[in-house]
Amino acid sequence: MGQKVRTAVFPVAGRGTRFLPVTKASPKEMLPIVDKPLIQYAVEEAIAAGATKLVFVTGASKRAIEDHFDTDPELEHALTESGKDELLASIRGIVPTGVSCVYIRQGEPLGLGHAVLCARPAVGDEPFFVHLADDLIAGEPGCLAQMADEYAEHGGSVVAVETVPRESTSSYGIVAVDGEDRNRVTEIVEKPAPEDAPSNSAVVGRYLLAPEIFDKLEKTGRGAGGEIQLTDGIADLLNESAVYAYSFAGVRYDCGSKLGYLQATVAYGLEHPDTGESFREHLKGVLEISGR
Ligand code: G1P
Repeated sequence: MGQKVRTAVFPVAGRGTRFLPVTKASPKEMLPIVDKPLIQYAVEEAIAAGATKLVFVTGASKRAIEDHFDTDPELEHALTESGKDELLASIRGIVPTGVSCVYIRQGEPLGLGHAVLCARPAVGDEPFFVHLADDLIAGEPGCLAQMADEYAEHGGSVVAVETVPRESTSSYGIVAVDGEDRNRVTEIVEKPAPEDAPSNSAVVGRYLLAPEIFDKLEKTGRGAGGEIQLTDGIADLLNESAVYAYSFAGVRYDCGSKLGYLQATVAYGLEHPDTGESFREHLKGVLEISGR
């Protein structure tokens, strides 16, 4: 039913103040998990879900992201000369053939809804993914691919959700759903206090949105935190077009927080072919020492 989703939007203009000082001059999306920056995991997930156009909504101090996804003939030449074929393949494969990158500046930091609206000229009149790179989700297939499968069945829009502790509702968009109707969203609120939250089902950083969202965002005023919220645009869309909440299979790491970032580093370090085995031994040693 739903058509193929070809475009993925990555709002990457945020300054990452929770991670200062490391994010003073470097984008938070370039923080590495083992040997790849967060934004590369994001792009890989979107490409695996079928995206062929990657739209980055950027801001000040974000040039490193463009460089990362650009070709680097000098580096490629040096790696070729020194016979480092594996490393060469790892940088050449970052953006596969047939996938294009588009960069749009978000002139003012007016919020996530505004960032998504900035992508409108590059998205056009098609459904699209929105991926927030801070939320790293380990899962096979990836979260966006799971959502695309879901969407293929019933169309509309899809938001990924996860159950969070009641006391954390004020950090997320929170939904109420109709369980009789494929978890169709009946209400969505940005960062409600626990006592006002319609549930403890939280939206995480993955969305598959119908293009009708853009007209809604054009009219969305400032909401929570004085920002133009994507959540408020979706709340407006609910009345006209179905939005479904999707409980993905996988583990989410909130890499916008120091603890979540460290947890992701440990989890991915344990899985990585270069480091897994020796890192496991190392951690065992650390646990023995600290357990004494
Ligand atoms: C944004 C959204 C929020 C969502 C969250 C997921 O908030 O506004 O609705 O639940 O991402 O990570 P942020 O984390 O940017 O404050």
